[in-house]
Amino acid sequence: MYRKHSKRILVTGATGQIGSELTLELRAKYGGENVVAAGHKRKPGEALLSSGPFEFLDTTRKEDIEKIVKEYDVDTVYHLAAVLSAVGEENPQNAWNINMGSLYNVLEIARQYCLKVFWPSSIAVFGPEAPRVKTPQNAVLIPRTMYGVTKVAGELLCNYYFLRYGVDVRSVRYPGIISSETPPGGGTTDYAVEIFYEAIRRRHYTCFLRADTVLPMMYMPDCINAAITLMEADPSRVRCRTSYNVTAMSFSPAELVAEIKKYIPDFVCEYKPDFRQKIADSWPMSIDDSEARKDWGWSPKYDLASMTRDMIDKLSKRFVEGRL
Ligand code: SER
Repeated sequence: MYRKHSKRILVTGATGQIGSELTLELRAKYGGENVVAAGHKRKPGEALLSSGPFEFLDTTRKEDIEKIVKEYDVDTVYHLAAVLSAVGEENPQNAWNINMGSLYNVLEIARQYCLKVFWPSSIAVFGPEAPRVKTPQNAVLIPRTMYGVTKVAGELLCNYYFLRYGVDVRSVRYPGIISSETPPGGGTTDYAVEIFYEAIRRRHYTCFLRADTVLPMMYMPDCINAAITLMEADPSRVRCRTSYNVTAMSFSPAELVAEIKKYIPDFVCEYKPDFRQKIADSWPMSIDDSEARKDWGWSPKYDLASMTRDMIDKLSKRFVEGRL
């Protein structure tokens, strides 16, 4: 069932927060023409369009995915298209249909065409019954959001396709992802990205979480590195086929504000918690990712200080050039 060399990669959700940067990295690594970017709602940016093939794709339509897989002779899928936690709570039925429908389609096609699959799970698989500090890999999974429910069900489905059909599917549970290129779309951890844009543009931000809400986070270069390292690992090292805990740092809005103020001393942050506070309160504060470290050598590079420095540096440059 395992293929030795990747010929062609399909990235779904390629216009999203992770997809837009992961696609460019995969193209740099494997050649632009070998990585097909597929997006749905968001318009693709210039970098995505000029560096390789782009297709509009609704991943809830199995035959549409299949068409692209055949046309480009795809052998690996990074399936990132999904509805995130906050948007998912506005329309849980839609979150179930999109997240489960599209993953089921991808796994079915992977079974039929012998594809290797990367699919991101999330810290949202955990609920308040799990230990909130250093949450272990095998903690109880009773999420309170529909997004979390689809991630738990998705992990079980991935594991099933691996055991039953030998589909080489690999997954990590991402924490909140911080990035400078494409904003996230409707998650509970989005504040940690928005705050940088607002600090630079207006020196003021209204945060939708309480100042002391600690959540696990990761900077985009580590996020991309986790996906590619796991996908390149020898199959014998991928012992977990549900999903691996991974993390890089944990901080609260207050701690992030203090770090940003080192660069922008007059930055002011107000706090007006909304419905997302309840979601954050049901999630872990920190994650035990020792199994990923041990099995396939996971090791993040960025902490709160180095991530903040890089974000401020990148976004300030864009602001000065009038592109923020
Ligand atoms: N960042 C995601 C969210 O907030 C968690 O996976 O929904």
